[in-house]
Amino acid sequence: MKLTSSFLTLALALLTPVAIANPEPQIPGIDLNALKPLVSSTLLQLLVQDRSLFNHAQQFAKFAEASGGTRAFGSPGHNATVAYIKRQLDRTGYYDTELQTFPYLFSEGSATFAVEGRDIPTAWFTYGPAGDVEKPIVLVNNLGCTPEDFPPEVAGNIALISRGTCEFGLKTALAGAAGAAGAIIYNNAPGAVGGGTLGAVSRPDGPYVPVSSVTGEEGATLRAAVAAGEVIGKLHVDAVTEDRYSSNLFATTKHGDKDNIIFAGGHSDSVPAGPGINDDGSGTMSILEIALRLPLFKVNNAVRFGFWTAEEFGLVGSEHYITNLPQSERDKIALYLNFDMVASPNFGYFIYDGDGSAFGLTGPPGSEHIEKTFEDFFKGKRLRSAPTEFSGRSDYGPFLDVGIPAGGLFTGAEGVKTAEEAQWWGGQAGVAYDACYHQACDGVANLHREAWLQNTRAAAHSIATYARSIDGIPRSARSVSAEARVADLNHEERRHYACGHKISFD
Ligand SMILES: *[C@@H]1O[C@H](CO)[C@@H](O)[C@H](O)[C@H]1NC(C)=O
Repeated sequence: MKLTSSFLTLALALLTPVAIANPEPQIPGIDLNALKPLVSSTLLQLLVQDRSLFNHAQQFAKFAEASGGTRAFGSPGHNATVAYIKRQLDRTGYYDTELQTFPYLFSEGSATFAVEGRDIPTAWFTYGPAGDVEKPIVLVNNLGCTPEDFPPEVAGNIALISRGTCEFGLKTALAGAAGAAGAIIYNNAPGAVGGGTLGAVSRPDGPYVPVSSVTGEEGATLRAAVAAGEVIGKLHVDAVTEDRYSSNLFATTKHGDKDNIIFAGGHSDSVPAGPGINDDGSGTMSILEIALRLPLFKVNNAVRFGFWTAEEFGLVGSEHYITNLPQSERDKIALYLNFDMVASPNFGYFIYDGDGSAFGLTGPPGSEHIEKTFEDFFKGKRLRSAPTEFSGRSDYGPFLDVGIPAGGLFTGAEGVKTAEEAQWWGGQAGVAYDACYHQACDGVANLHREAWLQNTRAAAHSIATYARSIDGIPRSARSVSAEARVADLNHEERRHYACGHKISFD
């Protein structure tokens, strides 16, 4: 067995560069695909290479580096990522590729606040405008929810407002209506506001002013200082809010049954704060690597690879795709496989709990079959796997909403590894699966290469298995879920839905 494997590895490694370097040779009247062997899980697994995964990672890191450290949607780093994937897939000649380009609202910012030379921890509100203000701080009466709460002295100065009762957006707009130059909203409880948003790009109640939040404790200190005499605050807000264009990318095998499409996806964007080499460079590159090896084979069922934009802003790309896909086209998708974060440095081998046995959330019929397919892979490798909640909080969510069975893999994000898990998988108990989650340090050094390779093989196994046959996956009529998870969320809720962050409007 060992010998055979090494022989195959060698033989296939020799073949693959040829397949990748040259477009499919065309000989009129002869279907070369018919001469290829039918895809096999074992062979496809042998073909995916740690070395080429890592080469892709270095490329992605370069794209981020040349783009202010990010591959967020709308950035040159994201466009370079999409162009790189498309170029490689086009070169194989094995796929029809397609870009789906559309605008979406991008809003990102940061703030600093200092009083009398002392820096005070502060946080930006989503949709808050940019600006620099250095002015006396003026107390606002009550909770700043009506124009009468704002005394005339607020004009030209920084309004200090308590959180509570009404939305941050209303408080900020009323401060603007009262002529304030800026505003600080302090928490009405100990600690920071966390995940605050103005809730909309603008409001009828007044113009937004530069605004940021401080903790309840800092609010009390500021109130006391302002009551005792003049206090100058220095507020600096950096922010951009604008429509940006970006693209989903699809690559569908030219052959195979297009009424039974096996769909595998990952998101091509990162958060604005970092390069996203694990999130989700890893899943994206796993399926890219598989897509580059698949052309050696023929498939019974067509395979479509999807690279989603703006997942980090709330599953935007996948939701846009599914919403705009006619029902007749949705019906052609046999199942969807999602790979979002598959190389976390302190990893676990998690499989989406499609049968609901662990978390009670089930997917459309067939999702349990996909979970089992992944479980079989890990069992076969004598690796421990564990279920992870089938919450819909990645790009498979919109597929679930329209009744398409789904499944996928995950190696953990900000969650903390338990002692038991550390026994199963090694790594550190009491530490996050990915301590660099959504941060600037999510670079090439943040990848667990062994976990990544195993998960890429697991992905190859699922794709090869279903590209051969979808026995066990129901193809009966589907219904749109009564509790559609993503389509009904507003812009701001979606933004935070994907990463599971808490979000506050008031
Ligand atoms: C990225 O690509 C989109 C779609 O082609 C384009 O509209 C947009 O201007 C590009 N953005 C950047 C920053 O290059």
